[in-house]
Amino acid sequence: MFKRFRRLRINETLRNLVQETTITADDFIYPLFVREGSGIKTEVSSMPGVYQMSIDEILKECEYLVSINLKSIILFAIPDVKDSVGSECLCNESIISRTIKAIKEKFPQMFIVTDLCFCEYTDHGHCGILDPKTQTVDNDKTLEISAQQAIVHARAGADMIAPSGMMDGIISTLRNALDENGFKNLPIMAYSTKFASGYYGPFRDVAESTPSFGDRRTYQMNPANRLEAIEESLEDEKEGADILMVKPALAFLDVIRDIRNASNLPLCVYNVSGEYAMLKHAGLAGLIDYERVMMETMIAFKRAGANIIISYHAKEVCELLRKQN
Ligand code: PBG
Ligand code: ZN
Repeated sequence: MFKRFRRLRINETLRNLVQETTITADDFIYPLFVREGSGIKTEVSSMPGVYQMSIDEILKECEYLVSINLKSIILFAIPDVKDSVGSECLCNESIISRTIKAIKEKFPQMFIVTDLCFCEYTDHGHCGILDPKTQTVDNDKTLEISAQQAIVHARAGADMIAPSGMMDGIISTLRNALDENGFKNLPIMAYSTKFASGYYGPFRDVAESTPSFGDRRTYQMNPANRLEAIEESLEDEKEGADILMVKPALAFLDVIRDIRNASNLPLCVYNVSGEYAMLKHAGLAGLIDYERVMMETMIAFKRAGANIIISYHAKEVCELLRKQN
């Protein structure tokens, strides 16, 4: 006697009936990169299909995203001026604020997440204010200006704030600042478990945020540490995070599962730039069936325990989902 597993694989309808994990357009957040100017839509060579866009082009893109049911975006800004403390992102006329307002005016239903960090705004490319003595990021000084940046995003109309700088205490700092300024109902999605990863390479081309010296290992996590990864996320939960995150995704599926089992909060996974670039370039080279591998990858994130997927593939995934229905 043995079990005939193949009975339930006999045709597509039955296979779909017993399918355990599914993806829908509702699972996705699509990253967009905004810069000054007009009529600008510049493709990044390391990430075919990903663009730096001026606000007018972002609006055209949003119109298309709405048409394919992609309702959530995460915004990154590339400012014209950078300085040592990232002042540009602390004023209410910053590029990110103008972008949020422009999108909300035309597409009020678009759900806008903002990435909150300083690396795109600082001339040294690190994720906060530097301590002049050690030349590493000063945690507590960075917390102060992070609170200011959060209020700027909130006032402009952001729907959710996602701090990505890996400063200790960032979640309680932002929660307090938002609450005190009348934004009690604005959720925080923590980049709670973020590793110091080589997979961010192409992103730094797009966001123009490569550190001018050193690396991010004094604030981002060591990819070798699983228990610390769980602790980081549980700490952010304690501080008041509404949603947790693991980043990058593909090389950390075990960590997604660990955190899924350790916390009951919704869990997001960031399928990062290097992961996108690998699939994209392999597909363009004719080495893999791109669409099939992409969908298999998205399913893997859900199966590992993620509820929400930030991905540069999101647009293509939603296009494909629409075709299949
Ligand atoms: C900014 C930030 C980064 C990413 C998201 N927010 C880069 C970094 O930490 O160096 C990476 C996204 C990606 O690689 O797609 N702190
Ligand atoms: Zn950063």
